[in-house]
Amino acid sequence: MTRTAFLGMGHYVPPKVVTNDDLAKMFDTSDEWIQQRTGIKERHYIEEDGIGASDLAVPAVQMACKNAGIDVSEIDAIIFATLSPDYTFPGSGVLLGDKLGLPGVPALDVRNQCSGFLYGLQVADAWIKCRMYRRVALVGAEVHSTGIDFTDEGRDVTVLFGDGAACALLGPTEDENEGVIDVEIHADGSGAEQLWLEAPASKYMPRITHEMIDERRVWPAMNGRQVFRWATTKMPEVSESVLQRAGVSTDELDLVVPHQANKRINEFVGQKLEIPPEKVVHNIQKYGNTTAASIPLALSEAIQEGRAKKGDLILMPAFGSGFTWGAALVRL
Ligand code: UT7
Repeated sequence: MTRTAFLGMGHYVPPKVVTNDDLAKMFDTSDEWIQQRTGIKERHYIEEDGIGASDLAVPAVQMACKNAGIDVSEIDAIIFATLSPDYTFPGSGVLLGDKLGLPGVPALDVRNQCSGFLYGLQVADAWIKCRMYRRVALVGAEVHSTGIDFTDEGRDVTVLFGDGAACALLGPTEDENEGVIDVEIHADGSGAEQLWLEAPASKYMPRITHEMIDERRVWPAMNGRQVFRWATTKMPEVSESVLQRAGVSTDELDLVVPHQANKRINEFVGQKLEIPPEKVVHNIQKYGNTTAASIPLALSEAIQEGRAKKGDLILMPAFGSGFTWGAALVRL
């Protein structure tokens, strides 16, 4: 039976590094608070006006293709997961296709925030298994730094997020010892307002007003404790479900590459699943939360560092805005 293989991974972060101390110069926070509560030390931001999520994705896709040993021109479908698209419309996938010189190649934008990579992976897996496409570039890319509130009011959210992009180049394999084993995804919109960006919004006439800006409804807002509670419940739950269906015990896992929202959340998930801490990948200290990019960025780095190797059995759980959550089980 055809399976979906990870043919190559790539990632890119903009060069500008912003430390916790840099943020503490802009609003009331501290390196100590941020590190203690989240594990984050620094994050990367775009350096200038005019760089969108699709721009960060270009070098990530090129690196993934190089590692897969294929030419960019062989990509026959793009899936672009982001919560910070270059424009409201059209989606970032079509912009990326244009920048890569891929006219006519279909491009699907996925809007499932921190779980976007897993949602995209399930779609790509179905496309590849039914032989619809052979070379799918699954991208997660975010430019958060232009859309967060650098004041005391926004500090809880702002310290968390960073810019970055990553790509998994996916394709069919007949080798049953590699590829995607399972992807399980979920959503519960009753949690929508617990982590959201309210305005501009098509439900309001007009979509944006000066009042909305004054009331700070144009910045992301989060009920951190509530999100934390849900994340630490749903990530272990969906992980156990995927492992059980695959008949895999946690001892057999080589690595867990979780969404990087908070180091404490991932330590908690690891403990709950009884996974030794050295098997759980963290890179949030360097990049903060890069939302849809975070799982592929962590996986790409783990491969680059030799920490994730061909044949490894890897679990990838995520939880985020929506609420949305899920887990993937993959043999590299
Ligand atoms: O990827 C999407 C999913 N997102 C998440 O998974 C995030 C989940 N939530 C979290 O990670 C945590 O809730 C946070 C890291 C966001 C916050 O940590 P917490 O331990 O839940 O803190 P808190 O929100 O309960 O706030 C504790 C205190 C408050 O002060 P008081 O009321 O105790 O005086 C906050 O005002 O910390 C204050 N605070 C800050 N202080 C310094 C909130 N943000 C900051 C800040 N710097 N950046």
